[in-house]
Amino acid sequence: MRLAGKSALITGSARGIGRAFAEAYVREGATVAIADINLEAAQKTAAEIGGNAYAVKLDVADQASIDAAMKTVESKAGGLDILINNAALFDLAPIVEISRASYEKLFSVNVAGTLFMLQAAARSMIARGKGGRIINMASQAGRRGEALVGVYCATKAAVISLTQSAGLDLIKHRINVNGIAPGVVDSDMWDQVDALFAKYENRPKGEKKRLVGEGVPYGRMGKPEDLAGMAVFLASDEAEYIVAQTYNVDGGQWMS
Ligand SMILES: NC(=O)c1ccc[n+]([C@@H]2O[C@H](COP(=O)([O-])OP(=O)(O)OC[C@H]3O[C@@H](n4cnc5c(N)ncnc54)[C@H](O)[C@@H]3O)[C@@H](O)[C@H]2O)c1
Repeated sequence: MRLAGKSALITGSARGIGRAFAEAYVREGATVAIADINLEAAQKTAAEIGGNAYAVKLDVADQASIDAAMKTVESKAGGLDILINNAALFDLAPIVEISRASYEKLFSVNVAGTLFMLQAAARSMIARGKGGRIINMASQAGRRGEALVGVYCATKAAVISLTQSAGLDLIKHRINVNGIAPGVVDSDMWDQVDALFAKYENRPKGEKKRLVGEGVPYGRMGKPEDLAGMAVFLASDEAEYIVAQTYNVDGGQWMS
């Protein structure tokens, strides 16, 4: 019970990696807001997890929605101790085909969503005076560009940079900001990634997913649960002196 009595909000936790984080946090004693743009899915997930999980409607790209979600958490749980900025969108296209609409959508969710959610959480944590923890979901895509993945890679590089700046700025309030960079994780998002690679690289469906899994030094793709240990650790007392870092949890894919 390393998070006993803590209040957490996890964006995009109706499914995938965010859901695995929510399950682990509830097991560790936290009260968790399953905050997702898909309220129905969030409600279903909260009911399935049970314990102290509750659903909150949240669009991280919309400031009014962020403010409303923070108010809900403050009134339901008395404040916020831990935020995980997990919600994100993926897209793929050669540089000459990237549309402005795709660029704006990804940056508004992955970058502005992370920044302004982080800002709202930090304001609330500072006013409460008890410090806090903020964990941003980056990616190996933020460590290096990829020919077809220009926009998504740029958003994740921005998340790593924001983690550094926010980490340095907020530690004086005893708010630790850190990040997690997964490699390839078997989730609904990766099904979308596979379908896009199939289109642009002329592959049968499922082939890209199989190949990337085989390429991981550990020997398989990650599962959402593989990331939960790091998310619990970064929110726990043991991580008190860790500031502005982004950790690779990727089966050995990346070294930095
Ligand atoms: N799956 C991977 O291989 C992988 C690898 C590296 C990093 N990541 C990162 O991990 C995180 C989780 O990925 P996943 O694979 O579980 O994704 P996913 O697509 O399976 O789940 C994302 C969730 O976010 C929600 N969401 C989307 N837009 C939202 C918005 N505007 N506001 C609130 N919620 C919104 C969706 O409804 C969904 O429940 C993301 O930040 C992703 O970039 C994933």
